[in-house]
Amino acid sequence: DQSKPLQGFSALVTSGPTHEPIDPVRYIANRSSGRQGHAIAEALAAAGAQTLLVSGPVTLPDPPGVEVVHVESAQEMLEACMAALPVDIAVCAAAVADWRVAGLSEQKLKKEAGRLPELTLAENPDILATLSKAEGNRPRLLIGFAAETEQVASHAAAKRQRKGCDWILANDVGPDSGTFGGSDNQITLIDEQGAEAWPKLDKQAVARRLVERIAEQLAGSARS
Ligand code: C5P
Repeated sequence: DQSKPLQGFSALVTSGPTHEPIDPVRYIANRSSGRQGHAIAEALAAAGAQTLLVSGPVTLPDPPGVEVVHVESAQEMLEACMAALPVDIAVCAAAVADWRVAGLSEQKLKKEAGRLPELTLAENPDILATLSKAEGNRPRLLIGFAAETEQVASHAAAKRQRKGCDWILANDVGPDSGTFGGSDNQITLIDEQGAEAWPKLDKQAVARRLVERIAEQLAGSARS
């Protein structure tokens, strides 16, 4: 079936921000709509892949044809991802918070005039890097994102090495790129061969193009 080139393959996608609680009513978060990750999950499912989307808190509806696990924090996102293994394809598009609050308060922190609470931070797990090291269970094709403002290709190539993933989709978010606040993304795909610059595309088109590339890559290989 040519319209379903990923039939028989399984896929995992992370999307959205994570929320790291400070106390029962407050949190630390990254700015992320989840639109790119959700579009990728939808496109993978449309191409026939059995797709699990692990989503942080977003206002988007669950994409059609996709199983969705809703999580809040990075640690919950990591657990949901590890529980989903093995998968053929994993795309980490979530904007995971780099830190969580250590010594989380069970009660709402009281506001007192002239006294500021002190927050101690702890480093969050890197989900992409952890998936790349999942022994005996590493996704066959592991894809990450990188938002770069300068020297996009070289910074992203270094990130690809550091995180141990197969591909990085580098997104130019520099001041002249128009990415922030715009609906288009300027992607450079980094693989072990080098860099491939894509034209400016909207997020749905980025998702479709990525799925085409994934299907080419996996064509003919056995499903797991
Ligand atoms: O290190 P940086 O945040 O720039 O890396 C971005 C890539 O790593 C994205 O694919 C993002 O989803 C992933 N990531 C992750 N877990 C983290 C931080 C980033 O999976 N804690």
